[in-house]
Formats: sequence, C-alpha cells, structure tokens
Amino acid sequence: MSLITIDREKCNQDGVCISECPTRIIQMDEEEGYPVPSSDFEEYCLRCGHCVAVCPVEALRLDWLDPENCRALKKELAVTPEQAEQFLRGRRSIRTFKEKRVPRETLEKLLEVACSAPSAKNQQPWHWIVVQEPQEVRRLAGMVVEAMRAVLKSNPEAGKTMGYHRVVAAWDTGLDRVCREAPHLIIVHADRNWLFGPEDTALALGLLDLYAKSLGLGVCWAGYLYKTVNAYPPLFEALGLPQNHLAFGAVMIGYPEFKYQRIPVRNQPRVTWK
Ligand SMILES: Cc1cc2nc3c(=O)[nH]c(=O)nc-3n(C[C@H](O)[C@H](O)[C@H](O)COP(=O)(O)O)c2cc1C
Repeated sequence: MSLITIDREKCNQDGVCISECPTRIIQMDEEEGYPVPSSDFEEYCLRCGHCVAVCPVEALRLDWLDPENCRALKKELAVTPEQAEQFLRGRRSIRTFKEKRVPRETLEKLLEVACSAPSAKNQQPWHWIVVQEPQEVRRLAGMVVEAMRAVLKSNPEAGKTMGYHRVVAAWDTGLDRVCREAPHLIIVHADRNWLFGPEDTALALGLLDLYAKSLGLGVCWAGYLYKTVNAYPPLFEALGLPQNHLAFGAVMIGYPEFKYQRIPVRNQPRVTWK
C-alpha cells in the first residue's frame, strides 16, 4: 500500500493537508493536481495524523491511518469560553479522598485521554504505572518517608528546606502527607535521555488531571513521591522502572471527599508586552 492514498472522487484539491503537515512532506503533484508524499516523507513523517484529520472530505488515507479510525468531532460537544473558564479555573488539587476505589475502566479511559496530549515530535514518550491497591500506595509513601529520614540525618539543612521534617513528623502521628491516603497513584515515566521528557509528561498529566475532574475524580500531584523515585534506588526498584527511565511525575487519585464552592485567587499574569 502506498504511503498516502487520495480518493480522487472526494478530494477537492484545496491543499489543506499540505498546509497543515507539520514537516511539510506532502506536496501537490503539479501535473495531476492532487497531494502526493515528498521523497523524504517516510524519514520525516511524525505520524501525527493531521493530514487525515484535517481533510474536510475524508479523501486522504495514510498506509496506517484511515479517516474512519479518527473519531469525528461533534459540534454539539464544543464548550463555550464561559464553560471552559469555569472548568479550568475551578480545577483544584485534591488532598482528601473517599475510601471508594476508582474502577479500572475509568482509570483506563483517563490514561487514554491523557495520551492525547501534545508531545515534542509527537513522540508520546510516556509510560504509566498505576498503583491500584491502597495498601501499596501507603507502602510506597512509607518508603518516601524512609528516604526523607535518611536525608534529614545526612543533610538536615537540605531536608528542612524541603519540608521533610514536617512530612516525617506527620507520618509518625499516622498522617500520610506524601500520598494523602489516596486510594491510587499514577506515575508517569519516560526515557531519561529524551530531551522533552519533563514537558511531554507534564502535559499528559495535565490532561489527565482535567479529564479526571470531569469524571468527578480528584487528583493531586505527588511531588515528594516522584522526586524520591529518582533519588532513592529502593523506591525506583519497587516500582520496577527501567534503568534508562526517570519518573517525571506522579499524581494521587480518587474520589474527593469535599466539594469546592469558590475559585481561589491566583496571581495576575506577569507579562512583558513588547
Ligand atoms: C510539580 C508539582 C508538585 C506538587 N507536589 C505536591 C505534593 O507533593 N503534595 C501536595 O499536596 N501537593 C502538591 N502539588 C500541588 C500544589 O501544591 C498545588 O497545585 C498548588 O498549591 C495550587 O493549588 P491548585 O492546584 O488547587 O490550584 C504539586 C503541584 C505540582 C505542579
């Protein structure tokens, strides 16, 4: 099968696929007047699927992607700016969770949506670990506390600056300030040498956070946890990360115990208008 197939019955020769291709590897065949792949197509195609998704008449098919496999955007589901603003500004980090577990299918759906985040060169470098058992979340939080104790012993100043003494003291009274007694944990990891690992994975977790809210779930970044994963080999091994990977983020997730009534104030944008 050729790299690009054009249905000439449908193609209106508008060149939209050519304009939208991020790497400009589709060109108009001068003689025939239809889009064709350029000679370096295979080398530079990002497999982003934009050419298929943007075609208004479903005329373009790639050897690996058919318009029928790309879900149609429904006009009636478009959000208004007002809805979007309230939804985005109303997102909160959630730190008190119900004991209720999140069904596996819901977590699967969340990850699917998270994987539609933008990523440099469309690399989609993310890998996920979902800790399903609340006792395991607690055990991992305990390992983070152990690592914190070690830092407080070897470098008390650094440990205090990071606030470890407070997390450890809370743990000793039975309070988990690492994972906040969340029922589940989601960790994102990627190749440690991928230049855009931090950005790509943060964007994916950002989408996950927002989509979780739409499902009535609560999420909070578990900064203490994922930073410790990379610094404390026992935790890195407990999670089974590949040696060439780093944990770039983690979130606690579950059903929120409380509902927010208002939107707290945030700093105004610090902008330099040029
Ligand atoms: C990278 C990152 C790490 C974070 N780590 C933690 C954490 O370990 N524990 C926690 O309770 N909140 C953590 N948070 C949540 C922030 O404290 C929270 O986003 C901030 O207070 C603003 O609140 P909001 O998210 O409700 O707007 C983290 C957030 C980010 C972006």
